Parts: sequence; structure tokens; C-alpha cells
Amino acid sequence: MSAPASSLPTVRLPSGERVPALGQGTWRMGERRDRRAQEVAALVRGLEAGLSLIDTAEMYGEGGAEEVVAEALAGRRDRAFLVSKVYPHNAGRRSAPAACERSLKRLRTDRIDLYLLHWRGDIPIEETVRALEGLVSAGKIRHWGVSNLDAADLREVFQAGGEACATDQILYNLVRRGPEWDLIPWCRERSIPVMAYSPVEQGALARDPRLAAMAERLGTTAAGIALAWLLRQGDTMVIPKVSRPEHVDDNRAALDITLSADDLNELDRLFPPPKGPRPLEML
Ligand SMILES: NC(=O)c1ccc[n+]([C@@H]2O[C@H](COP(=O)([O-])OP(=O)(O)OC[C@H]3O[C@@H](n4cnc5c(N)ncnc54)[C@H](OP(=O)(O)O)[C@@H]3O)[C@@H](O)[C@H]2O)c1
Repeated sequence: MSAPASSLPTVRLPSGERVPALGQGTWRMGERRDRRAQEVAALVRGLEAGLSLIDTAEMYGEGGAEEVVAEALAGRRDRAFLVSKVYPHNAGRRSAPAACERSLKRLRTDRIDLYLLHWRGDIPIEETVRALEGLVSAGKIRHWGVSNLDAADLREVFQAGGEACATDQILYNLVRRGPEWDLIPWCRERSIPVMAYSPVEQGALARDPRLAAMAERLGTTAAGIALAWLLRQGDTMVIPKVSRPEHVDDNRAALDITLSADDLNELDRLFPPPKGPRPLEML
């Protein structure tokens, strides 16, 4: 029997607010009309299972994914923690408020819970930090953060007065462990949780024969192990994307997997941690 949604694991943001550790991604959603009903159904099933952190972006389906999210959240907006992202070229003093308004309209809501700079572009970090802080003051967003920024970039964010940065959403999973070398320790020292995107390496880890063998022994799925490995850290939000409803149940079940010290050693052997700094990878 699954735990009720209210008792599912959470992660603490620097503000002290707690948000669901396991959520749902939406990349590639909202691109095709004929898939919309299935995408909405998958998100609703995830919400009903307690996976109430939803990650989207103005980029996904050029706004289409935000519209899919709006449909899934109709009548249940208050039960979700909504994350969206602004294009780097829209992250300026005037362009960020305008982009945010467009996202709010597509999302059919009056506030975004967490608004992220999608990746670093040409607009100076300081201008972006000020624009995002302005959106918090205006009540349009509740928190802001960044995505695809490495440790040096984050230092710049802090130097620009961005100590309120709530997260860095990064490519992080068993085959992308580079952030463990410097980025995650830097964030951990400042109590900034990271948000792991592509946690099952876009489906590849769900098909990985090494994980499948371990999953058989533990009575679970390969995807479940990949997610449980991230979730065990307690300060990592994890946002797998699912379009097939049965995958929602597998992913929800990851919250019930406890990996032993032996399992973790085995995973380190199969998917070794970094032995030095590596450039931050992104998809
Ligand atoms: N900030 C950024 O730059 C950035 C970049 C990439 C992604 N993201 C965010 O992170 C989210 C997740 O990343 P992602 O979509 O790239 O990849 P992902 O979540 O690692 O993988 C999604 C794929 O894995 C499959 N899958 C999920 N759970 C499964 C399970 N239990 N068993 C078998 N297959 C499973 C899905 O299949 P089905 O669809 O068939 O169910 C889908 O094909 C995105 O949707 C997006 O919100 C952010």
C-alpha cells in the first residue's frame, strides 16, 4: 500500500519551504495535438499519486507543454508545485516580466512557484537576478532559480546578489555523475538542493541490463533503482518524464525502495563517481 501524498518525501528549499522530492517533467509534451489527451492523463495520474512537482518551460513545445500542464492542473492548481523556465534571451529587465506573463497565461494561473533561468545566455547574470527578484516582489513567482549553470556560474549568481537562488536544475543521473565533484558540494554547503533532470537518461537507464539484473534481485524496476539512487540523497528533487501511465506507477514505487550499503557499492562499481572535475553536461 502506498503512503498518502501528504507523507511523501520532501526537499527543503533555502527559504525553508518543503517541496515534493519526486515530480514530473514535461519536455516533448505539447508538441502534437493527437498526443495531448494522453499527456494530460499521465500528468493527472502522477498528481493523484502525489508527484505534485511539475516541471515545464516556455521552450517545451513553444508554449504547448505549459498548456498541457494547465489542462492537467484544472481544478487542482493548489495541489501542485509548479516550475517553469524562461529562455536565456527572455531573461532581461523588460523581457523576463513579459515572458513570465505569457507563461502565466498559458498555465492559466496567477503565480509560478519556481521560475528558472533555463541556461546561461548573453544577458548579464546581474540583470537576470534583478529581473527575477522583481517578479518575486510583484507576486508573479514565489521562488527563482537556475538551470544548467556550473559552479563558476553559481558563484557569479551569488556575487550578483542572488543568494535567494532556490535550486540549480542539472543533468544528473547514474551515467552523468560529474556534478558530484564540485557543483553538488558547492550547493550543499549553501543548503541549495539540486533538481536532477533526465533522471533515467531519457529512458536508457530503464532499459539498462545491469540495472535490470539488480532490479530483479530487489523485486523492482531498473527505472525505480535509477530514481531511488537520486532520491536517497534527501536534498535532490527528481523529475522523470512519463507519457505512459504505467510508468507513473513504477516511478512512484521508487519512493518505497531502500538501497542498502551493498547495493550502493555495487552501483558505484557499475557507474563510477567522477575522479576529477568535468564540464557540466547538458541536453
Ligand atoms: N533544464 C533542462 O535543460 C532540461 C533538459 C532536459 C530535461 N529537463 C526536464 O527534466 C524532465 C525529465 O527529463 P527527460 O524527459 O529528458 O528524460 P527522463 O525523464 O530521464 O526520461 C524520459 C523517458 O523515460 C521513459 N520512462 C520514464 N519512466 C520510466 C519507467 N518507469 N520505465 C520505463 N521508461 C520510463 C519515458 O517513457 P514514456 O514517455 O514512454 O512514459 C520517457 O521516454 C524533462 O521532461 C524536463 O521537464 C530539463
